[in-house]
Amino acid sequence: MATLYTLLAESLEEQLRSGVFQANEKLPSLRKFAEQRSVSISTAQMAYNQLEDRGLIEVRPKSGYYVRHISNVQFETPKIKVSPQKPNIVTTSELVMDVMRNSGNPNYVNFAAASPGTDFPILQQVKKSFTQTARNRDFLGNGYCLTKGEECLRRALAQRANDAGIRITPEEIIISSGCQSAIGLCLKVLCKPGDIVAVESPSYYGLLQLIESMGLKVIELPSDPVTGLSVDALRLALEQWPVKTILGVPNYNNPLGAVMPIESKKAVIELINQYQISFIEDDIYGELGYDESRPPAVKAYDSEGRVLLCSSASKMLEPQLGVGWIMPGQFMKEIEYERFLSSSNQFCLPQIVIGETMAKASFDRHIRQARKTYQQRRDRLFDLISAHFPENIRVSTPQGGFVAWIELPRSLDATDLYLRAKEVGIVISPGAIFSSNPSKYKHSIRLSYAQAWTKERDQAIQTLGNLINATL
Ligand SMILES: Cc1ncc(COP(=O)(O)O)c(C=O)c1O
Repeated sequence: MATLYTLLAESLEEQLRSGVFQANEKLPSLRKFAEQRSVSISTAQMAYNQLEDRGLIEVRPKSGYYVRHISNVQFETPKIKVSPQKPNIVTTSELVMDVMRNSGNPNYVNFAAASPGTDFPILQQVKKSFTQTARNRDFLGNGYCLTKGEECLRRALAQRANDAGIRITPEEIIISSGCQSAIGLCLKVLCKPGDIVAVESPSYYGLLQLIESMGLKVIELPSDPVTGLSVDALRLALEQWPVKTILGVPNYNNPLGAVMPIESKKAVIELINQYQISFIEDDIYGELGYDESRPPAVKAYDSEGRVLLCSSASKMLEPQLGVGWIMPGQFMKEIEYERFLSSSNQFCLPQIVIGETMAKASFDRHIRQARKTYQQRRDRLFDLISAHFPENIRVSTPQGGFVAWIELPRSLDATDLYLRAKEVGIVISPGAIFSSNPSKYKHSIRLSYAQAWTKERDQAIQTLGNLINATL
């Protein structure tokens, strides 16, 4: 069934082809277009995005949307390859949950979950530390924890923040139960239903689902595979829309692995100060870069306390620990209150263990080892892809973290590939879940390379290559 924005895009395409709008002509602004067609701004945006993806129109910084030279554009016929007996994926959230369920299934060879490597020696140390702390510390019988969380962890985080260029005290940090829940708290404090949140695109699906579930609208801004969020596009969006907050992953974003240059980070600060809005900085991969030194956080340049930095131990150590944190700047009081509302019960044991683990020199050694290991695992993935995938693909070159983004030939439907791979015991992340517009990245996939390469994993990449080649 065609969606409203597809119908809208088709109708505008007809006008482009029939010459109502000509090459290089400026199109109506999104607001105007939405008014003209009696649709919401986000529907209008999705229709424009669809035409942009197909090369029919383009965004010009500080100016707006323009018609491109249509005669040069090549069109592909969509291929619908899901046969009726296969699972019927109807909405993005269903597809997201299908991927989540399958990526947790040990019977599959898993390239979907962005979980850290399970073979790092530090995990044994953390296990031991749990036993010792449980035995030696009076961790039960103390009633409620401080709302802000364990002091020893906040102190360790304040010390590590220096590497990111952030000068902060433990009192200015709040512990949460993970990065996603930290971001959820920030969105709750900053926005009310109907507000607009700007995000980079493609974007980690958990963040998109979070935004959607809170009744917020999303503007997707292009993200470059090397330099991340486009500041020009952000500027244009801020000129046109009452954006309430911006949510981004400036260091080693998911799924591209891009890093914003320092100039872009400073430009973001100038913009949020100018528009008196905020920036939710997801820094979950910030320590996992392949360079010797860690890139600064956007928060390092935050002169007015408008950046809410969120992160967690999920990628550096283990997601099951359920420990994250927020450096909320000027929103401290509101975030602390929201944290209390979301749950006044905190399990302090993991917080103590992580705090003590992070304060030791062995944690720095672990981070150095993880950086090197993930770079080697990325290179191995690249070797396998170049041996088994077709030539006309594009692959991002992550400079940190452990996920890569692969653009397959446009004729390929990656959700179909996801379903076929599942049938042969392999899980990948289909591109459709990385945008609020499922057709935007329908020919892309994300592969996680955090785990050690084994014969089985090597073979699985070859099998994926065969499945891709068979559909071309
Ligand atoms: C960019 C990004 N933010 C947040 C999360 C979720 O983090 P957590 O497990 O700490 O909630 C993920 C997990 O994949 C992620 O990639």
